[in-house]
Amino acid sequence: MPQNHLIGLLLGAEEDWPTAFEAIARRLGVLTASDGSTHEVSTERVTIEPFNLRDVPRHDLVIDRLAYWYYHPREWLKKVALMDDVYLLNSPFTFQSMEKHSAYCALLRLGMHVPETVLVPYKNPVDNARWAYTSAKYNRGFDLEALANELGYPLFMKPFDGGGWRGVSRIRDAGELNSAYDDSGEMLMHLQESIDGYDVFARALTIGPETMVMKFQPDEPMHNRYAVAHGFLSPETGAEAVTISQTVNAFFRWEFNSCEMLVKDGVVHPIDYANACPDVAVTSLHYYFPWAMAALLRWSTFCVVTGRRARTQVDTDPWFAVADDPELDYAARLGAYQALADDHFDTDRYREFCDTTLRHVDEMVYDWVGSDEFRSMLRSTIQQTYPPHEWERFEAHFGGLVGLWLSDQAAARASS
Ligand SMILES: Nc1ncnc2c1ncn2[C@@H]1O[C@H](COP(=O)(O)OP(=O)(O)O)[C@@H](O)[C@H]1O
Ligand SMILES: [Mg+2]
Repeated sequence: MPQNHLIGLLLGAEEDWPTAFEAIARRLGVLTASDGSTHEVSTERVTIEPFNLRDVPRHDLVIDRLAYWYYHPREWLKKVALMDDVYLLNSPFTFQSMEKHSAYCALLRLGMHVPETVLVPYKNPVDNARWAYTSAKYNRGFDLEALANELGYPLFMKPFDGGGWRGVSRIRDAGELNSAYDDSGEMLMHLQESIDGYDVFARALTIGPETMVMKFQPDEPMHNRYAVAHGFLSPETGAEAVTISQTVNAFFRWEFNSCEMLVKDGVVHPIDYANACPDVAVTSLHYYFPWAMAALLRWSTFCVVTGRRARTQVDTDPWFAVADDPELDYAARLGAYQALADDHFDTDRYREFCDTTLRHVDEMVYDWVGSDEFRSMLRSTIQQTYPPHEWERFEAHFGGLVGLWLSDQAAARASS
């Protein structure tokens, strides 16, 4: 009898990728690991209900899309991680404590080219009876305009924890600066140097040790933000983007994250890389959606079949040893970080697992993307996302991009 592994999906309002993931997980079949043992994977959507802290969950792994805003299931995730060794994509222990601000700090220490960034105190009084005394005694007055002048205009003002463009503004002068700060209210804000006139906006989605670096167009509407583009970075810059993304994830123990980098004059500036719930909608990723689903399935299957242990806490020592070594230049550091990331994700073993136990997955995903099941998932997502008069247009748009993926895959296979 194959050993069954249950993957829980903790979901919010999404239907597209969970339906897709469930469909390919169903097609996976019986897997044989390198030791000859056999395995099966099944999925189940997690429901929210009272739980006793002594309850034993049935899940081996949970893919979480909800706990970044819904705290009851977040506490359940923490319980199952601490008590039952359930593997989490992602763990709230890391996302709750390590928000965008911490990520900036860590990457700065690791020597990455994070733009100049200043954290300013709250605009509005903090809701605490001790605030008046504390602030009268310890809050130093500061000159917001002088800080902005040092960074130069335009600059960005954005919340220290970030996410979904909430509260982000691009500021061109002192007038906009003051009104944005007034509007920030109870949000804690960074001022950040703007990387203006960048050559490429690279957005990398990383799942376990797999990274897809995509060309991103933030000013386009959602359905057009990811361009289908290959070779838009030099091989060295492309490798740097992968290393930065995997470094962020391995350092913080994030499993499923997107990293935004602005590339200007050959320098890669990471600006946003703490996304607890990265966008994987089929209507955003289109051409890259099959890769994302396959990677999510491959990585979660690797974790459950090999019994990969999750660690709940960050171990900064090996990273800082590289960062603080005066003998190493930037390129040498990147090489050392990539090696640490490969070690963390067990990348060699993962690749071997993909080539043996999961060698049928590419073809299986290819067949599924060409199936009626996929088309009907795409159609119903389009109908839930757009008004009726746009359905036809978007079916042609996304159908065309997915068709392009299918023909690129067929061509790649024919030539290999
Ligand atoms: N330093 C910067 N230079 C240039 N553009 C920026 C900078 N910071 C943010 N942006 C722009 O603003 C968008 C939102 O900022 P980001 O830091 O990604 O916030 P969020 O976490 O809400 O996604 C980015 O995708 C980018 O287009
Ligand atoms: Mg962002």
